[in-house]
Amino acid sequence: MQKKDIDWSKLGFGYMKTDWRYSRIWKDGSWQEGGLTDKAEVTISECAGALQYAQTGFEGLKVYETKKGEIVAFRPDLNAERLQRTCDRLVMPKISTGDFIDALDQLVKANLGYVPPYGSGATLYIRPFIYGCGPVIGVAPSPSYEFRMFCTPVGPYFKGGVKPIRIMLSDYDRAAPHGTGDIKAGLNYAMSLYAGEAAHKAGFSENMYLDAATRTYVEETGGANFIFITRDGRKVITPKSPSILPSITRRSLMVVARDYLGLEVEERPVRFDEVSSFAEVGLCGTAAVISPVGQIHTKDGDVDVPSGMQEMGPVLTRLRETITGIQMGEIEAPEGWIHRIC
Ligand code: PLP
Ligand code: COI
Repeated sequence: MQKKDIDWSKLGFGYMKTDWRYSRIWKDGSWQEGGLTDKAEVTISECAGALQYAQTGFEGLKVYETKKGEIVAFRPDLNAERLQRTCDRLVMPKISTGDFIDALDQLVKANLGYVPPYGSGATLYIRPFIYGCGPVIGVAPSPSYEFRMFCTPVGPYFKGGVKPIRIMLSDYDRAAPHGTGDIKAGLNYAMSLYAGEAAHKAGFSENMYLDAATRTYVEETGGANFIFITRDGRKVITPKSPSILPSITRRSLMVVARDYLGLEVEERPVRFDEVSSFAEVGLCGTAAVISPVGQIHTKDGDVDVPSGMQEMGPVLTRLRETITGIQMGEIEAPEGWIHRIC
């Protein structure tokens, strides 16, 4: 299909309305037939569960054009599974993994002109979500739901691409109510907006959140997990916590680090006071890919990461090249990681 006339290299991480999106309604106790629609707007009850009690959850994944010209998604089954856990926790009906992938295939095939070309640096970001659209006035689950999936071509999440960023140690907690930090609930993101704006106003790209209970251990940022590289360049360490989002990128990177790069990997609680001992600090996620951190600002002084503010450190660079190589079909992927759409 003819590509749309878009300057792919100029794209940031923003929303662009594409031609088609997938929609499926749950009502009277079951999912109705789903399908594509060209309507980018939704009309819902003023008393919808999503509007009143933030009963809404989402996912994020990317679709790539590979070196061979195939259109593929990276581990979409894991997004489907995480959305199912989000639905359980928010008392919403679940979409099966098969139905999720079928919606993805339909959506992408209908919007092929928006898939950024191989080598352009841009990708097609997919945003699946489920929300309560029916009226509910007492505090209770909504009587009806919409599962929707749209796509938008995107460039880098952080302005400046892979240049190291400055982040700030936050005074606030990322996750909203106890026990919802590891699901993609809209409410968690709403509760992080205030802290996010505080960081941006102070001139920082993101927040580093600490564990809410003791403010001792590193959690994650507003939209990515952390990875740390030890000074000898041999080990990748990532925080283990029940209250951070189980990043699919991070889980994949740990496999890449071990099996492709021969590095040691460790998932364990990471104290904030250890961070200054690492050589490289990175943020990882679907949107962030791997973005290097050059400095962490705190009220008690700044932590300057040894790899510096000039460019991404050597180990993060190798990790980034390997994972994007796998996603773009330049490097053979582990079994089951790449879902071919067409
Ligand atoms: N942490 C948060 C809070 C996120 O919003 C995201 C993005 O989805 C991630 C981590 C990274 O997760 P993933 O690699 O699955 O995109
Ligand atoms: C993602 O990386 O997909 C995210 O959801 C992070 C942010 C854009 C919310």
